[in-house]
Amino acid sequence: MAEAGLRYKDKVVIVTGGSKGIGEGAVRVFVRNGSKVVICSRGEEAGKKLEAEMNTSGPGEAFFIPCDVTKEQDIRNVIDKTVEKYGRIDCLINNAGWHPPEQTIDDTSVEDFRSLLNLNLVSYFIASKFALPHLRKTQGNIINMSSLVGVIGQTHACAYVTTKGGITSFTRALAVDEAKYGVRVNTISPGNIWTPLWEGLSKVSQNPEAMVKGGEEAQLLGRMGTIEEAGQMCLFLAAEATFSTGTDLLLSGGAELNYGRKTRMVEKTNIYE
Ligand SMILES: NC(=O)c1ccc[n+]([C@@H]2O[C@H](COP(=O)([O-])OP(=O)(O)OC[C@H]3O[C@@H](n4cnc5c(N)ncnc54)[C@H](O)[C@@H]3O)[C@@H](O)[C@H]2O)c1
Repeated sequence: MAEAGLRYKDKVVIVTGGSKGIGEGAVRVFVRNGSKVVICSRGEEAGKKLEAEMNTSGPGEAFFIPCDVTKEQDIRNVIDKTVEKYGRIDCLINNAGWHPPEQTIDDTSVEDFRSLLNLNLVSYFIASKFALPHLRKTQGNIINMSSLVGVIGQTHACAYVTTKGGITSFTRALAVDEAKYGVRVNTISPGNIWTPLWEGLSKVSQNPEAMVKGGEEAQLLGRMGTIEEAGQMCLFLAAEATFSTGTDLLLSGGAELNYGRKTRMVEKTNIYE
């Protein structure tokens, strides 16, 4: 550990989609641990507000750069501005993404499918490609925010699930190629984390209350994860998991265990009682 409690002091971290949700959680945890964090997102108001709060709270600092990750030039600008300001990049967290409301394949146009791949997957490729020359110099690392559903599937989400499966595979392939430079590449696969995205999806559903309850009960732990817990897992991968590359860390509260059955159901059917 670097210095009394500061686990990633003076390291330079880029968080895409850092203004809200899981990205915001990562920004908060890294700044609290002494990092210089570049927040990039489309939401300028939220990004600037978080930047100001982080620069007041410290001990690290934040720098907001507006960016639409579907635009290659915007991502290149984030990498260039980061290096211009801080001279280095130690960690790239590819996180910006979107989950459309429930959609069958019949309701999903070819253009919908292509544009979600562009937002959720191609943007991770672009940011990694242009950050890597700098990450190789620092023997840094990339953290790609994937999803548990990339492995277990999800109802009416074939486009989203495809983008997440692609992220996990992309991560493994890149980990193989980048090991010779000492660059680690890992994924985090969250289950249900309570964020503005989750809240927004529940609000457009037919029964928001039931959807949130179902989301909470999907985990063995009986609740959704928090953005703070997501940020903590990012920090662990960046700062301490120095012998891990190509791994996929589940952040799922046990949602996938026991054939997907949850605690209460197991209690009812326990033949040993
Ligand atoms: N919340 C969950 O339960 C959950 C579960 C599994 C995976 N994930 C993944 O985690 C990531 C973050 O999800 P979240 O729930 O925090 O979402 P969120 O909508 O709450 O926040 C998303 C962030 O990404 C930014 N963003 C969206 N489109 C962008 C674009 N085109 N360019 C730049 N920034 C953009 C937004 O401004 C915001 O800062 C996503 O990749 C999502 O797929 C979330």
